[in-house]
Amino acid sequence: MTLNEIWEKARGMMGPNCQVCPVCDGRACRGKIPGVGAMGDGSAWTACTEYLKRVKIRMDTVHEAWDPDASCELFGVKLASPLCLAPIGGLNGYNYNGAVSTADWSMMAVEGAKAAGVLPFTGDGAGGQFQEGLDAASAHGGFDVPTVKPWRDNAKLIRRALRAAEAGCPAVACDIDAAAFANMGSAVNTVGPKSVDELREVVEALPIPFIVKGVMTAEGALKCAEAGCAGIVVSTHGGRVMTDAQATAEVLPEIRAAVGDALTIIVDGAIRTGADIFKVLALGADAAMIGRPFVVAAHGGGAGGVKLYADTRRAELEYMMTMANCPDIASITRDKVAIV
Ligand SMILES: Cc1cc2nc3c(=O)[nH]c(=O)nc-3n(C[C@H](O)[C@H](O)[C@H](O)COP(=O)(O)O)c2cc1C
Repeated sequence: MTLNEIWEKARGMMGPNCQVCPVCDGRACRGKIPGVGAMGDGSAWTACTEYLKRVKIRMDTVHEAWDPDASCELFGVKLASPLCLAPIGGLNGYNYNGAVSTADWSMMAVEGAKAAGVLPFTGDGAGGQFQEGLDAASAHGGFDVPTVKPWRDNAKLIRRALRAAEAGCPAVACDIDAAAFANMGSAVNTVGPKSVDELREVVEALPIPFIVKGVMTAEGALKCAEAGCAGIVVSTHGGRVMTDAQATAEVLPEIRAAVGDALTIIVDGAIRTGADIFKVLALGADAAMIGRPFVVAAHGGGAGGVKLYADTRRAELEYMMTMANCPDIASITRDKVAIV
């Protein structure tokens, strides 16, 4: 199956929650939560799309780098390209319409990602979706980064994170930007922000690296480094946790400048092409993360659709590396792009 055929098939399956737009840019689903949209006016998502358009790749084809190498290593895992699948929850009729269950999506995501050599993250929520991600991880030798909600009860966060370590996962994450989520069960305030001391408590309890997902400032990143975290995901949860946020690509350079090599930096938000991956690497990220399009790929093509989507993005990235004289990932530096 081609990606076009996969998208066509998914279009017949995913309505009304996701309209499977040719370009997944948040306009058709603006404000739809539950659903797949960004919060309110959708501005935290569209800001990412608009900013990435302003970043231009500087062409240089006078060189001898015929076969660019997009491979890299993240948290000790060798990957074919610096790409991660975002954790996406609520498939069972909350965000998506239930045509694919959370269990099946988790399995397709992990299987497809492993086959393509990219790193999957799975999610957490009030329902059973943390277990479903862990099941997928266990079925694939722990090839997954389970992402725990910032449960106000830090002991609950630690208990869940430890289960990721037991499943053999290379790292575990926490989507701290879900701090103000209202839908995490019936009790009020079941999730919340985390102090440096609480993050340090998680780090010290874990035998594997801890990643904080949803950091948008140099100050926040420095606090994660102070707590001993191994990495961060620069993210606004796909624009779902607030309006009026800056674009993720916009804040990347100041975050990288502040933390240096102390943290592995992943970034998400409206990244859709290999060119977008190239741009965020040039702005300071170690890897890019993509969310919603992978769910479409899984609906229309299962694990094979996930792999094809990831392989296509890798081929586009390699193409851009040739066009910009970048033989390897380390050579995608700030001078390779211009912001207009
Ligand atoms: C429907 C939906 C559900 C999501 N669920 C989670 C989740 O459970 N945990 C999490 O860390 N992020 C979650 N996210 C955020 C994604 O991991 C990711 O940050 C975002 O989708 C990336 O942007 P993109 O979809 O534009 O590529 C969710 C996003 C969507 C659209």
